[in-house]
Amino acid sequence: MKKLRMGMIGGGIGAFIGDAHRRASRICNDFELVGGVFDADYEKSKEFAKKEGISPDRCYKTVDEFINAETKMAADKRIEVVAIVTPNALHYPFAKSLLMNGFHLVCEKPMTMTVDEALELEKLVAKHKLTFALTHTYTGYPMVRQMRDIIASGALGTIQRIDAQYYQGWINSIIHGTDSRITGVWRLDPKHAGASSCMGDIGVHAFNLIEYTTGLEVKEVLSDLSSVTEDIKLDLDGTVLLRFGKLLKGVIRASQVCGGEENGITIAVYGSKASLKWGQENPNYLYMLSDTEPTKTFKPAHGYNGKNAEAGHTMPAGHPEGIYEALANIYKGTAKSIRGEEFDPCEFPTVHDGVRGMKFIHAVVDSNKAGNTWMKV
Ligand SMILES: NC(=O)c1ccc[n+]([C@@H]2O[C@H](COP(=O)([O-])OP(=O)(O)OC[C@H]3O[C@@H](n4cnc5c(N)ncnc54)[C@H](O)[C@@H]3O)[C@@H](O)[C@H]2O)c1
Repeated sequence: MKKLRMGMIGGGIGAFIGDAHRRASRICNDFELVGGVFDADYEKSKEFAKKEGISPDRCYKTVDEFINAETKMAADKRIEVVAIVTPNALHYPFAKSLLMNGFHLVCEKPMTMTVDEALELEKLVAKHKLTFALTHTYTGYPMVRQMRDIIASGALGTIQRIDAQYYQGWINSIIHGTDSRITGVWRLDPKHAGASSCMGDIGVHAFNLIEYTTGLEVKEVLSDLSSVTEDIKLDLDGTVLLRFGKLLKGVIRASQVCGGEENGITIAVYGSKASLKWGQENPNYLYMLSDTEPTKTFKPAHGYNGKNAEAGHTMPAGHPEGIYEALANIYKGTAKSIRGEEFDPCEFPTVHDGVRGMKFIHAVVDSNKAGNTWMKV
């Protein structure tokens, strides 16, 4: 099958997640990177294009120049889908222009800076009938998809408690390090990151994982956030109480200052009959707990899994797959949607998940500002 022609905004030399997107798009084998604006600095962008073997005439100075040139090309040459992998503040303006000009999108989270921007993108996706994948990467793991299927089957009974946690430690060393710490890290600067650092960067992944695996909506939140030191403007740590309804409660704990923690995103869903626990640092193990039986461990590439988990591995059992393959699974679903093939809604988070994420981030920030009160999501 012909590869989809992909563009990329951001992700140049030294960038973090753009490289993972390129590897994932290659693993699923449905995309070919043919152009983009890889860096705010054009010279660096050209250097990247050369290194990557991308034609210099498709390495553009700006997104406007990209759109101008690509939309003038014949339909069988033009870039079809664009990955936006820039810092947060640039997602919305670039996504808006690209959608209005007919490009499908793969966009990084948090999707926008405000809820209104998110709602506008949702309308544009519907109006132009385009595919929009939001890369909540953890939803691409086979055992997360298995968790979603088990919960949907009702095997847990009534869900009684939901806990998710995302602990990292890397900002700890930065805030206690050099004087340039705030200008050096865009995640700590509201102009680039938005209303939140910790909840916007990682708390939102935990929130998405809860709604993705359970199919439930968080209705209200009460948060207690901390910037940890006086001169940081955004939250670096926080706890969020969740209400799903009258009886079902939960909690999200997220932190960027838990020294020694790496990418510790975990989720536990406790039901009246059984419970499920998963953690991304050992992503190929999903545990089912009950009061009456020994703990069961689900692993990828076994016939006992549902079709969505089974479609998510490329190697036979016992060959560990990880973050690149998880992201590749999201790219795979995105390709099916762009080509008009059948796909399962679990195959990629959409612009609607982006809207939910922005509502969560702002409700959490507002709750904290209002003196830790309940806010609707
Ligand atoms: N899904 C995930 O698990 C995950 C993980 C990490 C980061 N992210 C998200 O990915 C995004 C990027 O994060 P990162 O850590 O890769 O950042 P980064 O700073 O490493 O890379 C950002 C890239 O954007 C480029 N850029 C900046 N302004 C630009 C412009 N005007 N035009 C073109 N390119 C421009 C930079 O030059 C750089 O190449 C963020 O929104 C972040 O939240 C998601």
